[in-house]
Amino acid sequence: MVFHPTKLLLLYAKISPLLFLMPPCATQLLFNYSDFSGTNAKNIVLTGNATFLGPFIQLTPDAPDNWGRATYLETMRLWNEETEDLVSFTTTFSFIISSEGKANYSDGLTFFLASPGFPSPKPTDGAGLGLVSRIQLGDWKLLAQNKFVAVEFDTFRNDAWDPPAPVREPVVININSIRFQKSTAWYTKTKEDRTYSATISYNSSTQILNVTFTGFNSDNTPMQQHLSSRVNLRQTLPALVEFGFSSSTGLISELHVLCSWSFESGLQKSARPYKNEAEGSMRKLVAGLILAGCILINGSGSFVF
Ligand SMILES: *[C@@H]1O[C@H](CO)[C@@H](O)[C@H](O)[C@H]1NC(C)=O
Ligand SMILES: *[C@@H]1O[C@H](CO)[C@@H](O)[C@H](O)[C@H]1NC(C)=O
Ligand SMILES: *[C@@H]1O[C@H](CO)[C@@H](O)[C@H](O)[C@H]1NC(C)=O
Ligand SMILES: *[C@@H]1O[C@H](CO)[C@@H](O)[C@H](O)[C@H]1NC(C)=O
Ligand SMILES: *[C@@H]1O[C@H](CO)[C@@H](O)[C@H](O)[C@H]1NC(C)=O
Ligand SMILES: *[C@@H]1O[C@H](CO)[C@@H](O)[C@H](O)[C@H]1NC(C)=O
Repeated sequence: MVFHPTKLLLLYAKISPLLFLMPPCATQLLFNYSDFSGTNAKNIVLTGNATFLGPFIQLTPDAPDNWGRATYLETMRLWNEETEDLVSFTTTFSFIISSEGKANYSDGLTFFLASPGFPSPKPTDGAGLGLVSRIQLGDWKLLAQNKFVAVEFDTFRNDAWDPPAPVREPVVININSIRFQKSTAWYTKTKEDRTYSATISYNSSTQILNVTFTGFNSDNTPMQQHLSSRVNLRQTLPALVEFGFSSSTGLISELHVLCSWSFESGLQKSARPYKNEAEGSMRKLVAGLILAGCILINGSGSFVF
């Protein structure tokens, strides 16, 4: 099929009014919470022990056997079943992890993407950072039905699955298992009330999940640390995922607080060619128009912030 430019314009003219009537578009997400006070919080879902605390979200208090999650109300589209499109995203967030002076503390915070309706950790324990319990970690059926990819800011070493000693506090990329896949030592000051910031990005063309985060030198000056891993999200996770943060405490505890969160994602066309050229260009056109629709819808200022 060949498109004549004027026909194309006509087609666009016919479709574009409809684009404004379409339901909110799920292929692009964009938000920026510099705090979570008041109406800002309406698109965040809290579960477990998580609560709003002034401008922040307290994922867990500094008390044993707590867990909490904060997820975005809408799911994110990671990939398209009919095309080769795959998501690219960038998210930046800041958080406080503090044992408030205690020498023994646990367990940490994750940013995660997971199957929608991901189950609660049961029975509650600190092991899986508010995502899965120790028992669920051994439940292959549950894990087969509920996929996750998590970036873990882990403050307690579990000998059974965390990176070996002497690394006590690692940053870990987990893929469908809390057993570490890729990790690095994290230079934290967990006993003190420090604020950390992290940026996690995923590039659909390189398929690299890239994590940049704050660490502290021994002289207390902040430094930037990095961790990255190649992961094909199309093979790892369902097309739609819920996403956000989780934390837990166990026998020992620490405070977990989320201070800010910005997020931006969009489906990118794959570099791989379509099998059916004509069908491909039609799909590309439609995808392009839908994308234009999204930008227009959200460009009209109707989104949060
Ligand atoms: C686009 O705008 C719609 C309508 O307000 C909103 O529901 C949706 O979350 C926005 N999408 C993004 C990516 O911000
Ligand atoms: C989010 O908002 C903050 C404060 O307004 C701003 O400093 C930051 O650059 C914004 N981030 C993004 C990704 O837009
Ligand atoms: C955390 O939630 C559990 C279950 O709802 C509850 O029993 C416990 O008291 C909560 N912890 C705190 C500190 O509120
Ligand atoms: C920390 O925990 C270890 C083992 O669980 C224990 O031997 C030690 O006394 C604890 N230290 C403090 C300061 O509580
Ligand atoms: C993804 O990586 C490619 C190759 O390094 C780069 O050209 C492109 O700009 C990146 N895309 C995004 C969205 O960062
Ligand atoms: C990860 O992001 C950092 C900071 O933006 C950048 O310097 C680095 O090159 C990236 N690494 C990879 C593997 O993309």
